Amino acid sequence: MPGLTLQHPIHTLDNQLLFPSGALLTKETLNAVIYSHRADSYQMYPLLLYGSVQEDCLDFLRFPPYATIFQDKKQIDGLFNLLETVRFPIPILQSLDYFKRHDLFTYTHVLMVFALSTLLAKDLIPDYEECIRLSATGPTHDTGKVCVPLHILKKTTPLTKTERGFLEHHAAAGYVLLSYYYKNTQHLACKVALDHHERRDGSGYPRGIPLKDPLVEIIAVSDIYDALIMPRPYRSSAYDNRTALEEITEMAKQNKVGWDVVKALIAHHRKAHPPYKEMTISAEKRGTPPSYNVYGMIAEEIDPKDRTE
Ligand SMILES: [Fe+2]
Ligand SMILES: [Fe+2]
Repeated sequence: MPGLTLQHPIHTLDNQLLFPSGALLTKETLNAVIYSHRADSYQMYPLLLYGSVQEDCLDFLRFPPYATIFQDKKQIDGLFNLLETVRFPIPILQSLDYFKRHDLFTYTHVLMVFALSTLLAKDLIPDYEECIRLSATGPTHDTGKVCVPLHILKKTTPLTKTERGFLEHHAAAGYVLLSYYYKNTQHLACKVALDHHERRDGSGYPRGIPLKDPLVEIIAVSDIYDALIMPRPYRSSAYDNRTALEEITEMAKQNKVGWDVVKALIAHHRKAHPPYKEMTISAEKRGTPPSYNVYGMIAEEIDPKDRTE
């Protein structure tokens, strides 16, 4: 990877500093951090057996629009058979506890991205092993948010430029943390954490490179969809399902994400559930976005002393 100057520090949940603010993140500096802690190895544990993850996943899937997407009981059973094989290093699972305690939006979000991306992978990726490899990146794509202050994650008014930078820092932070826990910078989960906000046309972050990897794109689209249809602190309400699908269709039209994964997502909303390759998608826009939504707006900087949140 090309060098990325880190604007903010990267630390583990137990406050071990891996990179200070201002450090240059390169393959070499990252390997140096991993090798300096080579002795630490982490036990792997099945995600669905950890805490209340399985119950929470099933619980979240009972509500619309996921209840429609996952209405086929056989499909859910097949999905959970696949998900049961996914294991993680223990500290990654502990980051789920952190989100569950402090930021329920993120906790629900990463589990739903896990379930949805696995479902889409079953349509789009014929290889079972590859499906599992992709599934194991859903719950970890936002791991770097442990490095973002909670008052920024939960802010209900526009972020300042500095806060926005801190939020975007989660992509690089997730890449570093997952490389560190897996002791491997090449693990697909690391690539997903780093690139899931990149777009095909190069308009994303943190590097502004074209999104090319089809596996990362499945997570990226699942991530966008879930962020739209679930409540968020910075909006008055969630997007309704139709408007959310129209927004994602618009992104495909603008070449920000690919058509196949968008078609696969929309196919799961059709009663007959046609194969994604046979899908035709309406260009008509009839949805109504939420009336209050400050996502993407930039506020004036405030002195940290004056902050009340
Ligand atoms: Fe993210
Ligand atoms: Fe996300």
